[in-house]
Amino acid sequence: MSEKLDKQSLITDGETTLLEAKNLSHEFDYKLFENINLTLEKKESIAIIGMSGSGKSTLLNILSSLLEPKSGEILFNNEEIYSVKKNRLLNIRRKDFGIIFQAHYLFRGFSANDNLQIATLLSGNSIDKDLLKKLNIDFVINQGVGELSGGQQQRLSIARVLTKKPKIIFADEPTGNLDKETANIVMNTLHEYIKNNDAGMILVTHENELAMKCDKVYKLENLELKELK
Ligand SMILES: Nc1ncnc2c1ncn2[C@@H]1O[C@H](COP(=O)(O)OP(=O)(O)O)[C@@H](O)[C@H]1O
Ligand SMILES: [Mg+2]
Repeated sequence: MSEKLDKQSLITDGETTLLEAKNLSHEFDYKLFENINLTLEKKESIAIIGMSGSGKSTLLNILSSLLEPKSGEILFNNEEIYSVKKNRLLNIRRKDFGIIFQAHYLFRGFSANDNLQIATLLSGNSIDKDLLKKLNIDFVINQGVGELSGGQQQRLSIARVLTKKPKIIFADEPTGNLDKETANIVMNTLHEYIKNNDAGMILVTHENELAMKCDKVYKLENLELKELK
């Protein structure tokens, strides 16, 4: 009986883990971090804070498939993402990972709606009108990207990422260009998304208040991740 239960819990454990980072180390001109471990579960949000230059963006790039670490492993779906074939990695990045940068890569010269349409073509999902309303950009979708304010562009890029329905959201200072009220709307939208879609989020921010709304908070300092919450 207890054997059966053990097995069951093992299986469940496997199913709730989205991403597992093991013994990550990286350096450029100087060592940024050494032997970092991190696990992200379904419906969980993790914030990473730390001083400018401590390596937060580098760590997020590594976790999100954009930069191979000097050493260590990242497991997604039991696959080590830097060991799989290049096409497989591209597929994971395109379908399963939703990456939100400070500098958003919208297609300028196209309308907001065109930019969202691209995400629907890649994923087979449709545009979520409620999401656009929530982000307060539903009334600008026929305008050109160049006509939108910085904050509207930021929210459009977030809507585009969510339209893909990613399993994991990686966000680097996603609310950097936004006023406080809009930043709260965006963060609430992201938290709601991960709870409703069995997804997870890793957020890099220098704002303590936003970080503390996440389930777990780590500080990148002295080459390691310290658990604050
Ligand atoms: N591609 C790169 N090539 C060389 N050095 C880099 C590169 N990316 C980041 N760095 C350096 O690594 C350090 C950490 O940068 P970063 O990860 O952006 O820190 P944070 O996001 O915490 O401010 C900085 O000194 C930065 O100049
Ligand atoms: Mg950074």
